[in-house]
Amino acid sequence: MRKKVIAGNWKMNLLPNEAIAYIDTLDPLVADTENEVVLFVPYTDLFYSLLQIQNTNIKIGAQNMHFAEKGAYTGEISAQMLKSINVDYVLIGHSERRQYFNETDETVNKKVKTALENEIKPVICVGETLEQREKGETEEIITTQIEKALEGIKPEQMKDVMVAYEPIWAIGTGKTATSEDANNAIKAIRNKICQIYGQNVAESIIIQYGGSVKSTNCKELFTMSDIDGGLVGGASLDPHEFAKIVNYDK
Ligand code: PGA
Repeated sequence: MRKKVIAGNWKMNLLPNEAIAYIDTLDPLVADTENEVVLFVPYTDLFYSLLQIQNTNIKIGAQNMHFAEKGAYTGEISAQMLKSINVDYVLIGHSERRQYFNETDETVNKKVKTALENEIKPVICVGETLEQREKGETEEIITTQIEKALEGIKPEQMKDVMVAYEPIWAIGTGKTATSEDANNAIKAIRNKICQIYGQNVAESIIIQYGGSVKSTNCKELFTMSDIDGGLVGGASLDPHEFAKIVNYDK
């Protein structure tokens, strides 16, 4: 049985004092869950958040990183920097990074490799645009994104990789994929992983759904056969609402 991983993506929101107050509110609300709870926080919140989650079951991730080990990349953050403060996870290739910051399948692949070399677990984000969906290209787009993201990743490294399927048209729009559509897309990703790495890896990899997940639709999504939890943007900014999503099975 795969566990469910429920992650909040705060995007460019919440100052350190707000992050600390948020974690203090969230902690008792999710203390009894068996689901894994992760918060992807802005860089400036990482250190404070990591101190605040001690003795809780909350994990902390970064929203991006550079693929190079170090060097003349003004304004960037390396995997080694994240590891030095014990960051567990990093989002790679979120559609907002692909759309606004020139993230490509090639840079996604480089970042996945660097994250794994530094023992940070990458969450690879893939998803189709509305236009691609309407043309019936969803499966082809997302399986190609996955294939390229995983190029050169060894089977034994796959235990530390997660995927988030996030249809771009569903992010921040209030439109959610139907649970069937989301499940089918995730099945297609799992099949592609099965082709590359075999059944054991395909059956154990965590694949989340993201895109306008909230407390009122999460149960229907997370109880589908292949959806292993969610990556939650807007609805994760309120710790009470996010706790309801984490506790969808209570
Ligand atoms: P949303 O964002 O829940 O606000 O749609 C999801 C995401 O971008 O990870």
